[in-house]
Amino acid sequence: MRLDKYLCDALGATRKEATRIIKSGDVTVNDVVQKSGSVKVTDDCTVEWQGREIHKAGPRYIMLFKPDGFVCSHEDGFNQTAFMLLDEVKMEELHFAGRLDVDTTGLVLITDDGQWSHRITSPKHKCEKTYRVWLADPVQADYADKFAEGIQLRNEKGLTLPAQLEIVDEEENEVLLTITEGKYHQVKRMFAALGNKVEHLHRERIGAIELCKSLEPGEYRYLTEEEVASVWK
Ligand code: URA
Repeated sequence: MRLDKYLCDALGATRKEATRIIKSGDVTVNDVVQKSGSVKVTDDCTVEWQGREIHKAGPRYIMLFKPDGFVCSHEDGFNQTAFMLLDEVKMEELHFAGRLDVDTTGLVLITDDGQWSHRITSPKHKCEKTYRVWLADPVQADYADKFAEGIQLRNEKGLTLPAQLEIVDEEENEVLLTITEGKYHQVKRMFAALGNKVEHLHRERIGAIELCKSLEPGEYRYLTEEEVASVWK
C-alpha cells in the first residue's frame, strides 16, 4: 500500500492532508523519514507520525493495564475513564471486551471488533478470566469445593458456573480465581456469599491472553496476531 493511502486509512485524513503531513517530515517508516506519498508500506512496516506509531484502518485490538480509579466507559461525570489513557484516533469506535470495576486493576481488552468481543463476553463461550484476589479474612478449607460446585449469589436465580480457586499465599489471604462468566461484581459477590470481603482485585488473564509483564499501570499495547487469533480457538 502507498504511504499516503496508509495515512488516509489510519488517520481518517484526506489524500491532500496526508500529502501535507508526509511533506512536513514528521512521518517515518521503519525509523527512516519518508517525504513521498508513493513509498510502499507493507504489513510488517512500522509507521510513525510525530514519534507515535500509527496503524492502518482495520480492527484494533488493545490490552490496557487499567489502574485503580478509572472507569470502563466512554464518559463519567465523576471518575476518569480508561479511554483517557489511550492515544488513539476514532475513539468512539472502540469498546471494552468486558469491563472492570473502578477499583479493580489489571487486564482490559479494547477493540472495535464486535464479533471478537462477543466471543469473550458471551456466557455461551465460557471464556476464562483469572483474577488475583486479596481477601479481608482467611481462606477457608472448603472454599475451593464451594467455588467448584457453584455459588448462590444474592438476587440471582441459579448457581454460578463452576470456578477454580488456587491459594497463592495463605498468610496474605491471596488467591487466584478463574471464572467463565461476567456477572455484575461477580468476584466480589462470590466471596461475599461465603462471608468474606475482597480487599483488592486484579485481572491477570482473559482466555489465553495474559496481562503483559512489561506494561505499567495506565500503559497499553496492541495485541499480537496470535493473541487476537487465540480468542477464536
Ligand atoms: N468481578 C468483580 O467483582 N469486579 C470486577 O471488576 C471484575 C469481576
